[in-house]
Amino acid sequence: MTEADLVDLVLAEQERPAWTAAQFAEELYHPAGWQLVFCQGEPGRLVGYICCRSVAGEGEILKIAVVVQCRGQGIGSLLLQTALSRMAAEGTGRCYLEVRDSNSIARNLYEKFGFRQIGLRKGYYNSPREDAVVYKVNIPRAGQGKESRFPQPGAFGI
Ligand SMILES: CC(C)(COP(=O)(O)OP(=O)(O)OC[C@H]1O[C@@H](n2cnc3c(N)ncnc32)[C@H](O)[C@@H]1OP(=O)(O)O)[C@@H](O)C(=O)NCCC(=O)NCCS
Repeated sequence: MTEADLVDLVLAEQERPAWTAAQFAEELYHPAGWQLVFCQGEPGRLVGYICCRSVAGEGEILKIAVVVQCRGQGIGSLLLQTALSRMAAEGTGRCYLEVRDSNSIARNLYEKFGFRQIGLRKGYYNSPREDAVVYKVNIPRAGQGKESRFPQPGAFGI
């Protein structure tokens, strides 16, 4: 993700409340932040993204989204798998995230990648008010023969 993506990111942002260009830009320059985008077609149109942070062996997924028309095609899985592969490669041992209790699609995605619920933050979200489910996954170190859960991006031809 770069500054050149900011306009497309805001156009692609369909969550409520949506992130503004300023929020994406802040993440872009956060010292622990890194992001991946998925582009489709020629010239590439940004259709998905994931915002992550990693520091001192701990990773966090802040946000993942795919535009509505492109969901259900494996793009979210590819973004998450690529992010976890990168964390494995850099030696990040654990990854955390928070998700709305009612977001069963995202929860299915996270659980598919081994995330397990470790907590609940009561009333964490506003508009509408809702609990946040806290998830964690342990990430096997790259090179320890357990990479099959998080294959390297090359396995997907990107
Ligand atoms: C969550 C999201 C990123 C998934 O992206 P996607 O490209 O559609 O995901 P995939 O096609 O890779 O599907 C991944 C998994 O999600 C789950 N999933 C996807 N669509 C689903 C549906 N309609 N119903 C139930 N589960 C679903 C499944 O577990 C699926 O794995 P499977 O295909 O092996 O069964 C997308 O739905 C999205 O952008 N949602 C809005 C933003 C959001 O809620 N982000 C998470 C909080 S930050």
